[in-house]
Amino acid sequence: MNDKKHLSVSAIQNGTVIDHIPAQNLFKVISILGLDKIPNQITFGTNLESKRLGKKAIIKIADKYFERDEINRIAIVAPLAKLNIIRDYEVVEKMLVEVPDEIKGIVKCVNPKCITNVENVTPKFRVVDKKSVSLKCHYCEKITDQEHMNYL
Ligand code: CTP
Ligand code: ZN
Repeated sequence: MNDKKHLSVSAIQNGTVIDHIPAQNLFKVISILGLDKIPNQITFGTNLESKRLGKKAIIKIADKYFERDEINRIAIVAPLAKLNIIRDYEVVEKMLVEVPDEIKGIVKCVNPKCITNVENVTPKFRVVDKKSVSLKCHYCEKITDQEHMNYL
């Protein structure tokens, strides 16, 4: 059961609800947004039914509102995520994640010989495919795809 009276995860009074996260990437989203390091109340549910994603996860962060740039960092692992801004129990705004043209940090280059893996150089990629989110290294030009993605 999942209607207004029977939410899988309790409603929040103020904050941000991140919905439609692929279940297998829940902990990546938590780590990318640094949710494991903030004092806010956070609740989440995972392996919830979703028509679009099969199994989805949802995260509710009380008293926290994100900047666009921060939110777009999760695009690589949750390109279909939907954000709901909650004020006084009401959804006052919905936002979609935008896959950026360029990604700095976050992901490691797949090429072990890449300068970013050998020296202290921050990885930088151009997003070559916004649907599947595959990344072309700015330094060695190798493609890092979802399957081979490791996070910094
Ligand atoms: N939500 C919440 N606390 C509130 C209000 C809403 O946690 N005070 C959550 C709901 O549980 C839901 C999300 O925010 O996961 C969006 O709420 P709402 O727009 O009411 O739901 P839907 O219409 O189902 O959203 P959509 O179809 O846009 O995903
Ligand atoms: Zn590289």
